[in-house]
Amino acid sequence: MTDHELLARADAVSGRAYAPYSNFHVGAAALARDGRVIEGVNVENAAYPLGVCAERTALSRAVAEGLAPGDLEAIAITASPCGGCRQWLHEFRIDRVTYRRGNGEIVTHTPAEILPDSFDL
Ligand code: THU
Repeated sequence: MTDHELLARADAVSGRAYAPYSNFHVGAAALARDGRVIEGVNVENAAYPLGVCAERTALSRAVAEGLAPGDLEAIAITASPCGGCRQWLHEFRIDRVTYRRGNGEIVTHTPAEILPDSFDL
């Protein structure tokens, strides 16, 4: 699966986002090294800070399905990942992060490129 095909999966799943407050639907699709694709969408809440980003939903699903940091090869997101999600992408040691920038441009970066000097314990 190419990064662009992974982004097509993210685009398709974004329609399932629960985003009644922002109306900003985000989809994410993560490719595991074993070939599995795990999708996520943003899930909002009336108590706004409790909402969850699409990437974190996908990564949480991956963990629930038995995957761990290091097991994911790539992720595609329909929007530019927020700062907190960039730290999650770093934690999961994903090789490639593909996303559509606000201007429509599609880019692929490593987590380190989009979050320099990331926090580690
Ligand atoms: N959102 C994501 O799902 N991922 C990001 O990395 C950026 C922001 C969601 C959160 C919220 O539901 C909506 O986009 C508007 O901020």
